[in-house]
Amino acid sequence: MAQPDRREFLGATAATAAAWALSPAARILGANDRVRLGIIGPGARGRELLQQLLRIVDEGQNAQLVAAADVYDRRLDDVKKTFPAIATFSDHRRLLEMKDVDAVIIASPLHCHARHFLDGIAAGKDLYSEKTMTWSIAEAEACRNAARQSKQIVQIGLQHVSGGAFLDAQKWLADGLVGKVTHVESWMSRNTPRGEGQWVRKIPADCTPEHVKWDLFLDGRPSRPFDANRFINWRLFWDYSGGNVTENAVHQFSWAFKLLDLPVPASAYMSGGVFSEKDGREVPDTIAITLDFPEKELVLTWQSTFSNRHYGLSDRILGSHGTIERQSGATEMVSGRLEGGHAYYPEKINRPDGVAIKGEAKDVQHLSNFLDCVRSRKEPNAPVEIGYRTAVAAHMANLSYRQKERVTFSAASTVSEAHR
Ligand SMILES: NC(=O)c1ccc[n+]([C@@H]2O[C@H](COP(=O)([O-])OP(=O)(O)OC[C@H]3O[C@@H](n4cnc5c(N)ncnc54)[C@H](O)[C@@H]3O)[C@@H](O)[C@H]2O)c1
Repeated sequence: MAQPDRREFLGATAATAAAWALSPAARILGANDRVRLGIIGPGARGRELLQQLLRIVDEGQNAQLVAAADVYDRRLDDVKKTFPAIATFSDHRRLLEMKDVDAVIIASPLHCHARHFLDGIAAGKDLYSEKTMTWSIAEAEACRNAARQSKQIVQIGLQHVSGGAFLDAQKWLADGLVGKVTHVESWMSRNTPRGEGQWVRKIPADCTPEHVKWDLFLDGRPSRPFDANRFINWRLFWDYSGGNVTENAVHQFSWAFKLLDLPVPASAYMSGGVFSEKDGREVPDTIAITLDFPEKELVLTWQSTFSNRHYGLSDRILGSHGTIERQSGATEMVSGRLEGGHAYYPEKINRPDGVAIKGEAKDVQHLSNFLDCVRSRKEPNAPVEIGYRTAVAAHMANLSYRQKERVTFSAASTVSEAHR
């Protein structure tokens, strides 16, 4: 079924704003406040979220999956094995028409997020929308405007802001233990056996035009004949993905942006390349990003490689009076074990009596936080604003890499999507 092309789609946002404003705010939930969920794109992440749903329902959360939409028959067959009573559709618009769907999980590939987000808001649904919020800056602006003009609850799948490390860091900052922060340094590194590129997935035998609605997947991206590799390994291609910046950097951006209330960066620079495996991918596997925040007198750096995992994932907030560090999967030097955790370390030069503190706050379950907010109408932990700022930062970095020059926010936001 034809969808409007990309220009019509973004242009339509202003015209439909009035309709969004009229969309039902606090819909009547199911029996005993039960939240009835639909999911768009139950692929790898979508099915992880459905496993989380089963766990939190076991623990007392009152929610139920009632529908799923996916362009690949195999995914719908898989979801039906666990949730046999649900309605299933190829076209997400049929799911959004269902009156007894209160809220929708969006776990489709990045380039489809904005379409699913805007259609979901227009249909009056609350949204748990996977990161990165959108594939481009123009789409991020359209989604933020639509959400602001509606009364819908939106949680972006940036779950690091629901982590215990976030809660402890927030307290240490509020208690003045860190002082003036001038630098956030962060990284995320991975490795794979040589010859096997990171992220590359095997193509199932039934991934054929008979079982995939290819035009719905392309969603206005350059037309091309069915290509199972692009469909399954969409992460490797710019038309559908922002590479590791939109896959992983954005999680770490969200953590620092929310803790330090960072605006969109004034400028971004990114270098790197496809160095680890030359397997046809377009997006770089080796990356160094610098984001500038002159008003905050702060620089954020993020780096990544897919050829070495020794230091795993880490973030360090560097302040005049102390350091906050969180790490996950770093290799302990002597034993070789993988370590994680978060802590505060005083800068003795400015806090001579300060002591190190080991973080102990527990994680908040991010999907459960969303479901609670659907009932209370409170703002969830990763609202649309944090989705917007981190998406813009990610796209500025990628733009800088592709244009091979430092990019300012004002220049980046006027770049036509065709040159993105
Ligand atoms: N928050 C996290 O920690 C986390 C982790 C992994 C992935 N993700 C995000 O989740 C999203 C999905 O990633 P994935 O690895 O599950 O991808 P995937 O390819 O495994 O799943 C995507 C699903 O969407 C379906 N799909 C494609 N186009 C569609 C359309 N137009 N309408 C409906 N369904 C469509 C595909 O058939 C597939 O089932 C990405 O945005 C990714 O960044 C988030």
